[in-house]
Amino acid sequence: MTDSVLEVRHVSSYYKKARRFSGTHSGFGERDMQVLRDVTFSIQKGETLGLVGESGSGKTTLCRAVLGLGMDYEGEIIHHTDHPQMVFQDPYSSLNPVRTVGWTLREALRAGERRGKRADRTLVPEILEQVGLSEEYIDRYPYELSGGQRQRVCIAAAMIQQPQLVLLDEPVSALDVTVQAQILRLLVRLKEEFRLSYLFISHDLNVIYQICDRVLVMKQGEIVESGDVRQVFEEPQHDYTKMLLAAVD
Ligand SMILES: Nc1ncnc2c1ncn2[C@@H]1O[C@H](COP(=O)(O)OP(=O)(O)O)[C@@H](O)[C@H]1O
Ligand SMILES: [Mg+2]
Repeated sequence: MTDSVLEVRHVSSYYKKARRFSGTHSGFGERDMQVLRDVTFSIQKGETLGLVGESGSGKTTLCRAVLGLGMDYEGEIIHHTDHPQMVFQDPYSSLNPVRTVGWTLREALRAGERRGKRADRTLVPEILEQVGLSEEYIDRYPYELSGGQRQRVCIAAAMIQQPQLVLLDEPVSALDVTVQAQILRLLVRLKEEFRLSYLFISHDLNVIYQICDRVLVMKQGEIVESGDVRQVFEEPQHDYTKMLLAAVD
């Protein structure tokens, strides 16, 4: 497929089990725990691909593998774009509490520059405007911002690096419902404006239905169902998908 931004082929990954300080080495209990099981999918240019599954099913682990964040894995992860960016669930812990918004965005610019991107300081007020924050936020600290504003800053820090693919790991789950809607609208607008592709993780199936083109359903590290979001949600084939859908009120 020529128009994909990311291909993940037969990826399996493992976490090392913590070693006990018992002094005995039976070997049992030190075996690696398998988290991802033969995961295969691709993301097309301009597509929003949803990823759903219960807590602990391996969604964040998959992002870590895609970003190369110290995950051991088997299989192939092929990037057809530059380094993807990621937006995390918790905008509180992803910002440095002693640094201003301006510092965070300039730091993101420098990170982009190290990967060969243009580090133009005028992008800082520009990107702030794009995410709905005025220039006066440049000198603010995270504690002076609401949860939604913090998430806007995290989104700005990702977007200022001009990525083509953004991994959004439950980006609105920690926010109030009204704020969730605002941030979702922002993400949809930025995607159109910058022609981005998204991997969008959420346990909220309504949100997935609203903004995704296709969806992957993950159960215990395995993709058990995938397809067009309407088709999967209206005619789920796998019992696990049916169970997730039945839990939606
Ligand atoms: N750093 C880690 N070390 C060991 N096990 C981990 C680590 N991070 C996650 N896990 C385990 O891997 C599984 C998948 O976790 P995760 O990818 O965070 O799931 P999800 O994002 O779908 O909630 C869980 O059983 C979790 O306990
Ligand atoms: Mg997670």
